[in-house]
Amino acid sequence: MKFFARAPGKIIITGEHFVVHGSLALAAAIDRGALVEAEAFERIEVVSKNLGLSASGTKKSPRPLKPTLETIKDTLEFVGERRGARVVINSDLPVSSGLGSSSAVAVATVAATSSALGHKLSLEEIVDLAMVSEKVVHGRPSGVDVNVAAYGGVILFRMGERPRQIKLNKNVEFIISYSGIERKTSRMVAKFSDMRQMYPNIFASLVLSSSRLTEMATDALAKSDLTTLGTIMNFFHMVLSRLGVSTRKLDDMVEGALEAGCLGAKLTGAGGGGCTIALPRYGEAKIIEEVLKKRGSDASIVRLPLGGVKVWKGESQ
Ligand code: PMV
Repeated sequence: MKFFARAPGKIIITGEHFVVHGSLALAAAIDRGALVEAEAFERIEVVSKNLGLSASGTKKSPRPLKPTLETIKDTLEFVGERRGARVVINSDLPVSSGLGSSSAVAVATVAATSSALGHKLSLEEIVDLAMVSEKVVHGRPSGVDVNVAAYGGVILFRMGERPRQIKLNKNVEFIISYSGIERKTSRMVAKFSDMRQMYPNIFASLVLSSSRLTEMATDALAKSDLTTLGTIMNFFHMVLSRLGVSTRKLDDMVEGALEAGCLGAKLTGAGGGGCTIALPRYGEAKIIEEVLKKRGSDASIVRLPLGGVKVWKGESQ
């Protein structure tokens, strides 16, 4: 019997990078994600439709599929299974772009594989298993991406703790734009972390400020105070840019969104390429999306909040 799982990608609204050093981060599930189909099989086999790659437990596997093979092995071991599994991945998230593609694949893989073999795992267990492959991909991930992919919604997250769900009193729309440039999260995290060695005291106070500003951003988002939220996003972009994780292209995209009338805009995720997010006033998302598209951006609107991982039996939905 086939089981399907769909896990969302994410945006980080505030606190990326600082979260690796103990800050809070505010993040949310988006409407793009990874769809994984799994069934019991005589060995372990993975097919990635979007990457056009496949790997079988017996053959030398392509590098991009190694984390998924690890995830499946760990999941089978955790549930005490001797059978293998065949897993087919379909993701509509661009890879290495800050939208949490690898985490969405990992979470959906754990959820679909365990269900296909008749084991129901808790969200905590899914997160813990998905973190194993995230460590293979990213080195020292905070876990924010995996937690959003599993729990969904809008979360306030601190490394090593379970996330806190944030209730919004009104839907909030963000505009996501992709720079078209891929980069490696682990390289950006290492670059950012170098700052800690060079300026330990300044770094420590920035981590504290990031946490405090993230609390304020959370409060503003929950109460639909978009002006305050936008101001905090702008501040984060300025600091991240000064600390060397933005690029000329990302800075231009942020400027462009502000010029078009957004209240706030920033890079999201590790930077160095990837995506920006922008916050329009209520009722203006569509007009601004069109303006940005006319200027050549691939802007798209996401309406928060959205759900986390979902599992079902049978046919793809
Ligand atoms: O992989 P990305 O671009 O979504 O970045 C993840 C966010 C970081 O804070 C940069 C790293 C982490 O593990 O939290």
